[in-house]
Amino acid sequence: MAKTHGDRIREAFTRQAGTFEDERLNVAFTSGLPWLLSHVEPRPDDVVLDVAAGTGIVSRALAPDAARVVAVDSTEAMIEQGRSRVVAEGHLNLGFVRGAAEDLPFSNQEFSLVVTRFSLHHFADPPRALREMVRVLRRAGRLVVMDLVASTDPTIAARQDHVERLRDASHVRMPPRGAVRDWLQECGLEVAQVAERQIDRPVKGWLQQSKTDEHAAAQVRAALEADVAGGENTGLRPHAVDGELWFHQTWELTVARGRARDEART
Ligand SMILES: C[S@@+](CC[C@H](N)C(=O)[O-])C[C@H]1O[C@@H](n2cnc3c(N)ncnc32)[C@H](O)[C@@H]1O
Repeated sequence: MAKTHGDRIREAFTRQAGTFEDERLNVAFTSGLPWLLSHVEPRPDDVVLDVAAGTGIVSRALAPDAARVVAVDSTEAMIEQGRSRVVAEGHLNLGFVRGAAEDLPFSNQEFSLVVTRFSLHHFADPPRALREMVRVLRRAGRLVVMDLVASTDPTIAARQDHVERLRDASHVRMPPRGAVRDWLQECGLEVAQVAERQIDRPVKGWLQQSKTDEHAAAQVRAALEADVAGGENTGLRPHAVDGELWFHQTWELTVARGRARDEART
């Protein structure tokens, strides 16, 4: 039987659950936290939902500054890793729930703050998942989305996605720059801020973190090396650092509020 997208997500993140909590390999996930938190600005009375939370790296960073945090994810292995970290770190106000971003197991307007990071590029239908996040958000709530973004040139974006998919078969498509802002505005939210960050990452650690099999990893390296040598532009700006291959990602962070939705209804 053909694999479904859900099968690919489960396989990829069951395999990666351990590396998400390996501090030699999860630097991109932890070093980006201060930038994210400075835009999220959690409040002591916030009831937070972290969607596609994985092992809860973001949830655990938010928990000390919020009233309660719920981390929802579809992959049991990621949740198990996250639960053991929550116990080890002593977060009493953080719980994990298994569920799909497209069909969140929560009532309307349960949360004052909804956050999702590095998730949209794994979703088959990102606007559908965003509509669900807006459904569970309080009317004056805040929604913060952080993800990889692709070039606005569709040819380059397709090549970026091809390399990402070789690395991790559960990758669907990076949103183009600005798409999240447009989707959230279509949901009736007011977009307060869009920020961008340029990141350089070592290819070796990136492939180790995803546990990419050797055949696919060799294809990734070959595409990037050809780009360095003046061949096809992968859009990932590969370059050598002390003899090692590095590449470039663009992270985009969008902060939105529910105020416009309220005003639209009055
Ligand atoms: C790259 S990880 C990001 C984890 C976390 N947000 C972070 O930044 O550390 C992507 C996560 O999305 C989850 N995921 C993918 N598709 C999902 C869906 N449709 N519903 C819920 N979780 C999903 C995967 O199980 C995985 O844990």
